[in-house]
Amino acid sequence: MTQETGSRMDKIVALCRRRAFIFQSSEIYGGINGFWDYGPLGAELKRNLKNAWWKDIVQCPAAGPDGSWLDMVGLDSTIIMNRRVWEASGHATGFNDPMVDDRQTKQRFRADHLFGLYVDALPADPNASPDTSPGTPANAPALNTAFPILTMVASSAGEAAELLEASGRKWLKEAGLPMKLATCTPEAVTLDYRGTPLAAKLAPVPAAQLKSAPGSIPSPFTHRAGTLTEPRQFNLMFKTYVGAVQDEESMAYLRPETAQGIFANFRNIIDTSRVKVPFGIAQIGKAFRNEVTPRNFTFRSREFEQMEIEFFIHPDTAAEWYAWWRDSRFAWWQSIGLTSSNLQMRAHDRDELAHYAKDGAGTSDIEYRFPFTDPGFGELEGVAHRTDFDLRQHAEFSGLGEKLKYFDQLQNQRYFPHVIEPSAGADRGTLALLCEAYHDDPNRPSGVVMKFHPRMAPIKAAIFPLVDKDSMPEIATKLFTDLRRTWNVQLDIKQNIGKRYARMDEVGTPYCFTIDTQTLADQTVTVRHRDTLAQDRIGISQVRSFLSDKIGEI
Ligand code: GAP
Repeated sequence: MTQETGSRMDKIVALCRRRAFIFQSSEIYGGINGFWDYGPLGAELKRNLKNAWWKDIVQCPAAGPDGSWLDMVGLDSTIIMNRRVWEASGHATGFNDPMVDDRQTKQRFRADHLFGLYVDALPADPNASPDTSPGTPANAPALNTAFPILTMVASSAGEAAELLEASGRKWLKEAGLPMKLATCTPEAVTLDYRGTPLAAKLAPVPAAQLKSAPGSIPSPFTHRAGTLTEPRQFNLMFKTYVGAVQDEESMAYLRPETAQGIFANFRNIIDTSRVKVPFGIAQIGKAFRNEVTPRNFTFRSREFEQMEIEFFIHPDTAAEWYAWWRDSRFAWWQSIGLTSSNLQMRAHDRDELAHYAKDGAGTSDIEYRFPFTDPGFGELEGVAHRTDFDLRQHAEFSGLGEKLKYFDQLQNQRYFPHVIEPSAGADRGTLALLCEAYHDDPNRPSGVVMKFHPRMAPIKAAIFPLVDKDSMPEIATKLFTDLRRTWNVQLDIKQNIGKRYARMDEVGTPYCFTIDTQTLADQTVTVRHRDTLAQDRIGISQVRSFLSDKIGEI
């Protein structure tokens, strides 16, 4: 991440705070790490995203690969479920992150988020090098090519380079290393060691190295070696207790994904909803993960919302449905405004596949290049062929066995359907919409314009009487009262018109309608277009159909 992109993210975060998109949770008490609140405009934006998803997935889904309509139903299952659900799904034992503690500072981080600065070659004059002989005391500066000389916690090489660039000089001093940082990019770093250039590089610290020699790796907090523990598995599920007694028996988990609520209701839905394979169950809801290092604004939160589909299919059709869902989900994100090259699709390598997808047709991530991942990308949605893993597990753990199979009347066959799972994050989606919309524009009084897709814009239109007299406020109020039945619109009567436009640019309102002197004469209003700044006139009676054309009903 460059300085420019770093400051771009700072500006987006500041705008989110200033214009009531996103606040830190419990801010008046100093906040709580990994939790975020959506203010009035953020709540509208996120709701628009979720409503569009529900409408396009459950209510009016696209035609499938053979041109016929998809069979989709919705669900709203609970956050707390019987604990056996999480034993069956594998989360109780397998939903872990490897975690390392710094015994001195008591700080904790994900082992796979530790980046190290490795020196490529030692200085030509060995006498000039600090002591690197075996048995060097743990706190002495180490300089050899096997271990990093500095470490930092980051989720990408770009972020690691940025941290190093910002603080590397200070850290080298804290580490007691007699060298200076000369150049620093994610690909290459050069150090100045008493006038001799030393080539170095940033790379993730290998898990094996952390495991075998944690004492030789400098802490990312103190920059001295000797205080890190080896990685330990840390279960990410939050625990709570159900009922008055708090004991092992009453312990329950907050769900870490909404998907299992769908699998646990599979039998209920096929028995009651007249759905036939292929069909899908969709759900939007909160999920909770006690992330070791929540970071990057809302990107990695501890409480977040998912929009998940479990699409049940005959096993023989998995490859076709997987490809169809992958491509249609990508097209959907584009349809709501993520049209730039910041959106990409990435197929997982075999060694990245989750346990439930190992034997499947594949997994792909739809990724977005956020300012904090740039030049890399961060996951927005995963599309995975989960095989029949979950249904088989629930059949076994619930004791339902064969009863959880689907009976295919056409083929006179009983089987566990396979599942294609497109699983998206509503918070990451909202964040991507904010990042994509943000445009600096020094030619506008606001200095910034949020170019949301009209369907996503939190405020669809603003209505302004040019002045607060001559019956203009009354005409504006009448128009506002009519439009608000369908859209989130705003009436703003006070201040000069330039300031009112500026406020709307800053929150991405696509259209402003102004009632002026000419309105009184010919019943027309000025329409101001956010992106082009063009202004034209339409009849006041056409405003509703104008917005319907441009925005639709949600
Ligand atoms: N049921 C499959 C599943 O949960 P996942 O990749 O762990 O898969 C799906 O999560 C989506 O949920 C991600 O693509 C991301 O958008 C969102 N997500 C996951 N962890 C998150 C977190 N800590 N904060 C915000 N969103 C998260």
